Amino acid sequence: MTRHFLRDDDITAAEQADILSLAGRMKEQRFEHRLLEGPQTVAVIFDKSSTRTRVSFAVGIADLGGAPLIISTASSQLGGKETPADTARVLERMVAAIVWRTYGQDGLEEMADGTSVPVVNALSDDFHPCQLLADLLTMREKFGSLEGRIVCFSGDGRSNMAQSYLLACATAGMHVRIACPAGFSPRADVVADAERLALQTGGSIRVGSDPQELVAGADAVVTDTWVSMGKEDEKVQRVKTFTPYQVTEALMAKAKPAALFMHCLPADRGFEVEASVIDGPQSVIWDQSENRLHAQKALLAWLLQRA
Ligand code: CP
Ligand code: NVA
Repeated sequence: MTRHFLRDDDITAAEQADILSLAGRMKEQRFEHRLLEGPQTVAVIFDKSSTRTRVSFAVGIADLGGAPLIISTASSQLGGKETPADTARVLERMVAAIVWRTYGQDGLEEMADGTSVPVVNALSDDFHPCQLLADLLTMREKFGSLEGRIVCFSGDGRSNMAQSYLLACATAGMHVRIACPAGFSPRADVVADAERLALQTGGSIRVGSDPQELVAGADAVVTDTWVSMGKEDEKVQRVKTFTPYQVTEALMAKAKPAALFMHCLPADRGFEVEASVIDGPQSVIWDQSENRLHAQKALLAWLLQRA
């Protein structure tokens, strides 16, 4: 049966570990995996802006011997003119997989239900699972293994990044802590799913409002923009609400001495993170960006081998 990757918990712990191992091998031998030789085409659709996701999928599909077809929703029939289900039925006749950056998770589910080719979430309002594969790959490279490591996200707990951190890191057996203001907690059902996963993997979940307390002893400190795409009108209020959650040098000092600083980018220096932290020696942001390429190549290869 066709497998899709719409949320971080669409794969099991063992499958996640397999994909990360494949990504590691693909990183070592970048041009030796030609699963899309033909070339087979992969459609990569964007309802929202992107630099990393667009480039890493386009380059990765080409590395695999395939042809990327980048589609902007504004210049297609998607987005009100044609349903995701009908679009999926058309695309599946011509492409090997569909990658989609969009707003609602429901559209991705409709697309996946309507097609026999794998559908990949390239960021929705709720989750950013491709970024988490890259972030897990980065942490695995730095730590050697993931199980038992403590990761603390400080910022918008209801954001796609925080919610993906909960699911992906719980799957990996990590201890996930989310520090966020009242009213910006992750969705209760996502926390419950992460807690259930953590019970199986030996990880744990904590959500609270005190970043100083939650960051203590962390192996990695993570943040993301306070103004996710689609929230631009709320910027002034959000800056006020999230300022106590900024990742500063003082906050980093409460984590482990060798703790990593992580950010999916793009970043607003001086808002969610001090410039001296994101540009400092503990920051691994460029490795995270590069690892989008390797992680997504492995994900596509893994999905296509099961399609
Ligand atoms: N991190 C990330 O997804 O970046 P882009 O928005 O540039 O794709
Ligand atoms: N939370 C951010 C991630 C950008 C890659 C957003 O959705 O805009």
